[in-house]
Amino acid sequence: IEADRTRRIEAALDELGDDVVILGHNYQRREIVEHADFIGDSYALSKRAAEADAEYVVFGGVTFMAESADIITDDDQTVVLPCMEASCPMAGMAEALQVDAAWEQITAADPASEIIPITYMNSYADLKAFCAEQGGLVCTSSNAHKAFEWAFERGDKVLFLPDKHLGENTAHRLGMEDSIAEWNPWDPEAKDADELEDAEIVLWDGYCQVHERFTADHIAQVRDEHPEANVVVHPECRREVVEAADVVGSTATITEVVENADPGETWAIGTEIHLAKHLDRWHDDVNVVPLCGDACMDCDAMRQIDPNYLTWVLEELAAGREHNVIEVAPEEKELAGLALDRMLEL
Ligand code: 13P
Ligand code: SF4
Repeated sequence: IEADRTRRIEAALDELGDDVVILGHNYQRREIVEHADFIGDSYALSKRAAEADAEYVVFGGVTFMAESADIITDDDQTVVLPCMEASCPMAGMAEALQVDAAWEQITAADPASEIIPITYMNSYADLKAFCAEQGGLVCTSSNAHKAFEWAFERGDKVLFLPDKHLGENTAHRLGMEDSIAEWNPWDPEAKDADELEDAEIVLWDGYCQVHERFTADHIAQVRDEHPEANVVVHPECRREVVEAADVVGSTATITEVVENADPGETWAIGTEIHLAKHLDRWHDDVNVVPLCGDACMDCDAMRQIDPNYLTWVLEELAAGREHNVIEVAPEEKELAGLALDRMLEL
């Protein structure tokens, strides 16, 4: 079945020639990344999308990534997501209505401060647009610390959305861990105004349900089983996990540490399982072990991009039919683009 599907994908790609580019996030399964022109983290892929001059950008990733590609690419380019169900649950944890209400309360609690909102790339275009409108920007896991520095050059307080763990880990990196308040969007009354006023960093209570499942016990276990192991984890992991690891970084950093490892080294990988599997396949001379042992840290959203859907969208494009086009509303596009441009300039 796979050989037949590969033949069909290659035939469609031959037909489309330079008209199509396939971008694959590091968490996509093997059958997708094997067909990708570029594989990378969300930051690298947004840069690739900006540079692409193909008519069609087929995105192996989740909705917010495809939205960002649509914002960044030219108006005559079309972004296609092979499956419309591929939506990151964390991005859905900060909805525009909730954010508007929170903004009102947080700004009212501290009218004297200039508050800068920063949203993680894992968010929808309306939230990116909101951040730009309020003087803020977007960041990814590889430049969150730079985005915080940018914000503190311009204001006195940051509202960071939606990932509280990335926010907390970034605050630690900047030595600001003592000035954090958490904002629970499902119970806004729980927050007292004094705490909001005192905090320099307000963290939205969102999280990634894949990375939140890693624990410090997983790290203790891997060190027990592989005493020589180095441990690298994604900054969406809880603070205790990041503290117990040797290296923390985006999926690009995780890829790099294994690429640069000496032969025979062992690396335990604390992120979505498909990246651990790719690194194991790509580097025979490095011992790659998934941090979670037998438990499967699989992202359901990324998994929605089934190779059969990739085959379908490509064959349809080759036949002149477009499906699953991701198009950000024009009124959001400009502002969300500004928030992304501020990030790309960091
Ligand atoms: P990266 O920006 O590190 O690729 O991560 C994206 C993501 O969804 C992590 O869960
Ligand atoms: Fe979203 Fe987590 Fe999946 Fe990344 S791994 S796309 S943050 S659910």
